[in-house]
Amino acid sequence: MLLEHELAWVDEKIYWEIYENSLKYPNEFWMRHMQDISWKKSPEIAFDERSGRWLPGGISNVCYNCIDRHAEKTPDKPAIVWYGDMPGERREISFAELQRMVVRISSVLRARGVKKGDVVGLYMPMIPEAIAAMQACARMGALHLVVFAGFSAEALAYRLSVSQAKVILTVSAANRGGKRIKVLDNVEAAVVNMERPPEIINVDTLGNVELDDRIAWLSESDNLFVLYTSGSSGKPKGIIHSALPYILYVATTFKVIFDIKPNDVYFCTSDVGWITGHSYIAYAPLFFGLTTVIFSGSPTYPEADRYWDIIEREHVSIFYSAPTAIRSLQMFNRKFVERHDLSSLRILGSVGEPINRSAWQWYFDVIGGGRCPIMDTWWQTETGGIVLAPLRTLKQKPGVAGKPFFGISPKISDNGELTITSKWAGLCRAVVYECGVAGNTTEFCENIFRKNYFKDGAFLTGDGATQDANGDIKISGRLDDVINISGHRLGTAEFECAINKIDEVKESAVVAVPHDIKGQTAFAYVVSKTELLTPEAKADIAKKIVAATRCCIGAIAKPDFIAFVPDLPKTRSGKIVRHILRAIANGESYENKDVASVVNSRVLPDLQAAVHNSLHCPDMCKLK
Ligand code: PRX
Repeated sequence: MLLEHELAWVDEKIYWEIYENSLKYPNEFWMRHMQDISWKKSPEIAFDERSGRWLPGGISNVCYNCIDRHAEKTPDKPAIVWYGDMPGERREISFAELQRMVVRISSVLRARGVKKGDVVGLYMPMIPEAIAAMQACARMGALHLVVFAGFSAEALAYRLSVSQAKVILTVSAANRGGKRIKVLDNVEAAVVNMERPPEIINVDTLGNVELDDRIAWLSESDNLFVLYTSGSSGKPKGIIHSALPYILYVATTFKVIFDIKPNDVYFCTSDVGWITGHSYIAYAPLFFGLTTVIFSGSPTYPEADRYWDIIEREHVSIFYSAPTAIRSLQMFNRKFVERHDLSSLRILGSVGEPINRSAWQWYFDVIGGGRCPIMDTWWQTETGGIVLAPLRTLKQKPGVAGKPFFGISPKISDNGELTITSKWAGLCRAVVYECGVAGNTTEFCENIFRKNYFKDGAFLTGDGATQDANGDIKISGRLDDVINISGHRLGTAEFECAINKIDEVKESAVVAVPHDIKGQTAFAYVVSKTELLTPEAKADIAKKIVAATRCCIGAIAKPDFIAFVPDLPKTRSGKIVRHILRAIANGESYENKDVASVVNSRVLPDLQAAVHNSLHCPDMCKLK
């Protein structure tokens, strides 16, 4: 029988056979893959269908699997190759060296009183130390809480305090796109007003510490991390992932979908601040002892060939990136690609948002040279790992994420939402809203998760999808009030919270509109307290809006359009009618829409006019 990870280039028939079996006999399927984990105590079964438990009785450690076992066998093999802001800036960290870095950080954490189950904040650029710090937490059974270093001090403070982080690991500064970013300053600004501020640990200046290389052997019920993501509410939520079931799912999806071989060089352009940077940078490639390339610069600085240059220098064979990056690089002259030899590439990946046909074709033809299948991987922070991916064939369907991974049973509900009816090991365990991780029992957070995410036993993804006769699934985008800006998930309510804090603003509503590079961007409707505003006053408020979103969320959250309107369309009960706002912002006429529920329909012509005159805010909020 074919092993699933040898499924390269198989036809659909074999795929469906193995797939059906994985649903019928999930335990058998996962028993085979759980052997990839080095166990302290092996579980007797992989999945107990009656209790829904994964890996019951198993004892192991994620860091041991990602680092120690390779440091023993292949100590000199590069684990991480890092590229900095300038092309010549390169560091190579072997597995043995990475192990030393990890032990040093975990020793410092222990010395500062961090224990198993504690939350450790992490606010760092994309450097090897960030991965070492995550692995250090995994080693001692503490939960890391990574906050993307592009988030503001305020956003960082919220996440740290809700999770009751005990310490925060950071560095002094970072260079990106030729600019120096004072990372530590942001951390200091974040903790200054916190009631119980976490202790700041600067990884640049760890000093001498007595090394303590103990490993915390974890059971199936222990957790690995908490990571915040956006939903429909004004506040982001913390998603908690297990340690052992999570690593089983992440490792297996990585192995099968990217068809990995021991000598592969893998380059993923995500940041550790997102789930992709967790599952498929900090964990899966190291788990298999592969060499991982990471990059902390900007893809267009000093020139628009940084990715292609790195692929050539390192002989990268698997390249995993995002549609927004591909679209932005597609705009540059082809000479940036053509001056590099990309023949080492074997497999390409895409994640974060639907990939449009033109970007797909360019990726396939120009980057992959027509040789490399594109793994359009659909998944979410909550799902832990990849849930949908196409087969590795050169006859792929552009823009179609494709088939469910083994053990995943997708079902499109009557309202077009993608739901998942089977159980899989990567699914998050619990969700934290405004309550602490440490202060609340896991049970409490687990219940909240079940209440918010399931209907009739099916997991709700919040994404719209269609399925064709071959069973291939195409994702259309979010159905809820979440905007996907350059693959970053942000709640419209988070924008509104920031905007409504401005003195001159009475209320606001933010909707998504398409954007050529970012995929989507934020369009803000703003009702000011003063009715008649001069163009200068509007430009002034617009500047404050950009500053407020930057301050509350981060620079990635800037609305690109602002329309000043006299009022927002509302229902009798005062609820904003968002679908009308969305339609008008997208250039449609309200006249073709169902406006029966809008009690103040006289504002509709004004809205349409305001959208025509909306302020476009590239940087300085100049008039369009
Ligand atoms: O809307 C889907 C979109 O990104 C959302 C999940 O965002 P996040 O939790 O930040 O995780 C992103 C990285 C896994 C999904 O609900 N999305 C992600 N991948 C795809 C996608 N939409 C279409 N095609 C994809 N391949």
